[in-house]
Amino acid sequence: MDDSEIKVAILGLGTVGSGVAKILLKNSYNISQKVNNTVKLVKVLDKDLTRERELNLPADVMTDNPDDVLLDPEIDIIVETIGGINPTKEFVIKALKAKKHVVTANKEMVAKYGNELFKLADKNEVDFYFEASVGGGIPIIRSLKESLTANQIQEVMGIVNGTTNYILTKMIQEGVKFDNVLAEAQQKGYAEPDPTSDIEGYDSAYKLSILSAIAFGSSVNIDDIHLEGISDIRQEDITYAKELGYVIKLLAIGKEVDEEIEVRVHPTMIPDDHPLAAVNDAFNAIFVKGDAVGELMYYGQGAGSMPTGSAIVADLIDVIRNINYKTNNRISCSCYEDKDVKSMSDIISKYYIRLEVIDEPGVLSSVSGIFGDNNVSIESVIQKGKVDDTVPLVLVTHQVTEGDIQTALKEIKELDRVNEIGSLFRVED
Ligand code: HSE
Repeated sequence: MDDSEIKVAILGLGTVGSGVAKILLKNSYNISQKVNNTVKLVKVLDKDLTRERELNLPADVMTDNPDDVLLDPEIDIIVETIGGINPTKEFVIKALKAKKHVVTANKEMVAKYGNELFKLADKNEVDFYFEASVGGGIPIIRSLKESLTANQIQEVMGIVNGTTNYILTKMIQEGVKFDNVLAEAQQKGYAEPDPTSDIEGYDSAYKLSILSAIAFGSSVNIDDIHLEGISDIRQEDITYAKELGYVIKLLAIGKEVDEEIEVRVHPTMIPDDHPLAAVNDAFNAIFVKGDAVGELMYYGQGAGSMPTGSAIVADLIDVIRNINYKTNNRISCSCYEDKDVKSMSDIISKYYIRLEVIDEPGVLSSVSGIFGDNNVSIESVIQKGKVDDTVPLVLVTHQVTEGDIQTALKEIKELDRVNEIGSLFRVED
């Protein structure tokens, strides 16, 4: 074996950083054999050196001074597991400028500043890898970039947030209300104390921006992603969905239709026999459709210390191979196109709509008349008995444009006997 040593440092010894350190220590023999080098963890940056840890690293490895890592000429590769933008992005820029390869799990930083960081890595002839930024341990970035690269990707659609999938699973399987499941998930440490990024869909949107850019070869600005979270989902819609043969999942959907990209994150009804419908608890799955390969689904743990560490260490091994072969940057975004993002009013979907109406003769015909006038064709209708003064009227449409649905709903809302538009879900068949 070549006795050249590759020196690695980790920024941030939290859940993910500890997973990386554990894998490097536990699998050091196999890793060294695979790359033909000794891989040594030489420095770990953490802001709190007094914290009790499961993992005891030698005192001279630990530091709370970023420059001990970023400016150490001996260090070859930096693993960034701090997360967020500040101060992380500045650390990464400093590392790339110092000609250190960087491996990150940071979806927000890659989604917002990926292009800038890829360019900087290119300029400095170093690698910038980010497999762990989407789907934790699921090897989706490398699959899209390498294994599926022969294809025109038509669709990437996934459950890419474990927290919301856990909450929805409990709501569906146990009939528990959103607020109660969220409180329980926070108590057990499954949901963050501030759950906004997960619950309102930002986390999924960062991941969708990364996936779509790679799948469709065109950068996707995070602000162009249509975003709806799960906090407004009501038990009664879950019940109607069941009755209609659907389950509700928070999906990140990327599609290329007529050379335009559709990018949206929202609660979606999918048939209960769809492969994504069986993805429960905190698991993630990404469904991909390519013109040559057809349909594929990747399933696994989308977060956590060891699964995310698995993706990071795989990147690390790839970087070391690049160092040995004197090549670099094979995994950055190949955004060679500049495709337009389709406006939401132009997307075509089926819709589930729940209206709360006064139970009187003629209501259904007024509602269906307005839908008809706006090119919206109804596939099925459910009407249940009186709850209060109103009754729920549940409709599922055929495929229509979102613009037509929204125009029809505006008119329906004005009807005297319609109390409210209770809910609207897009349905993916
Ligand atoms: N907060 C994310 C989730 C994990 O719940 O899936 C990290 O991306």
